[in-house]
Amino acid sequence: MSAKVSPQFAVRLLAWYDAHARALPWRSPPGSPPPDPYRVWLSEVMLQQTTVAAVRPRFESWVARWPTLEAFAAASDDDVMAAWAGLGYYARARNLLRCARAVVSNHGGRFPDTEAELRSLPGLGDYTAAAIAAIAFGRRAVVIDANVKRVVVRLFADDGTNLRAHADSITPNTRAGDFAQAMMDLGSGICTTRAPKCLLCPLRDDCAGFTSGDPEAFPAKKAKAAKPTRYGTIFWLARGDEVLLVRRAEKGLLGGMRALPTGPWSDDAPDLADAPAQADWQWLDDEIIHVFTHFRLICRLAAARVEAQTAGAGGEWWPVARLAEAGLPTLFAKAADKFRRD
Ligand code: ADE
Repeated sequence: MSAKVSPQFAVRLLAWYDAHARALPWRSPPGSPPPDPYRVWLSEVMLQQTTVAAVRPRFESWVARWPTLEAFAAASDDDVMAAWAGLGYYARARNLLRCARAVVSNHGGRFPDTEAELRSLPGLGDYTAAAIAAIAFGRRAVVIDANVKRVVVRLFADDGTNLRAHADSITPNTRAGDFAQAMMDLGSGICTTRAPKCLLCPLRDDCAGFTSGDPEAFPAKKAKAAKPTRYGTIFWLARGDEVLLVRRAEKGLLGGMRALPTGPWSDDAPDLADAPAQADWQWLDDEIIHVFTHFRLICRLAAARVEAQTAGAGGEWWPVARLAEAGLPTLFAKAADKFRRD
C-alpha cells in the first residue's frame, strides 16, 4: 500500500523549487521572507476559483486598487462584487469582505498567524488557513490542493484514503511556505494529470506511482455524475440607450449580483411568464449554455423595447455603452454580448 519515502524528499523538492519556482505576483522568491499575508490570502481565495493564468491579471489589478488589507476592508460591497465579476462563486467575494473587516475590527488589521485562529475567520476554510499559515507565516501546515493531492497519491501509489497522513508525513518543519508551493508547482508543471514528465521530476526515485509503471493511474478516475440541465429566460428590456438591470436576491445562485432580469431556473421549457414588463417580447435565435457546479443551465433570450419614460420596475436603467462597468457575472455578460450583436 504505502511506499516508504526518503527523508531526503523535502530537501530534494526544495532544491528543485530553488531552481524552478514560478515567479508569481503573490509570492516571494524561494528562501526569502514571506509575502504580505493580505496578498497570500487574496491569491489563495482567487486560486480556488480558477487557474493561475486567469488569476494573475485579476490579482494585479485588485492589489493596485486595494494595496492593503485596510484599504480593501474599507471598500464598498458593490465595488467588491463588481471587481469579483467573472471569477465565479460570488459568496466568496462577500466572505472576502467580511473576513477583511473582521481582521481589521478584531485583530487590529493583522491576520492571526496560526491555522486555528485563521480558521475562525469568516469564510476561511481548512485549506486556506493551512496555506496562509505556511506561506505567509512559515508555520508547518499540511496544505493540500488538487495539485498537491495528485503528487501525494502518486508518490505513495495511494487510493486517496490516506492522503492527509501521507501529506503530513512528508511535510518538513522548516520552509513550510516554500514546500507547499513547491508541491503545487511540481503538480502543475511536472506531475500533471496527463502525461506527467517523470524524467524531469526530482522525486522520481521516491515515487511509487513511477515505479508502478503507470503513474497516470493515480488518482483513480471517478466516473463523473451527469449534471442535470435546467432552463431559464434572460430578458433584455431596452429603453433608449439603456437596458434594465436588477439586483438578484441575496440568497441563491449569483446572490446579490447585478444581473439582467430572469425567470426562475427550472426543469420547464423557458417562457415569458416572468418578463419584467408588458412588452412585445421577441425571442432571439440564440441561446446561452452555462455550466454551474451542480447543473447545466440553458437560457433562451428575449428582447423588447419600451417607451422613453417607462419606470424601471424595481431595477435600474443602465447605459448600454457602460455595461462593462456593471460587474455582471459571466452568464449575463455573455447574454448581453449576444443581445448587443443581435
Ligand atoms: N494554487 C493555489 N495556491 C497557489 C500558489 N500559492 N501558487 C501557485 N498555485 C497555487
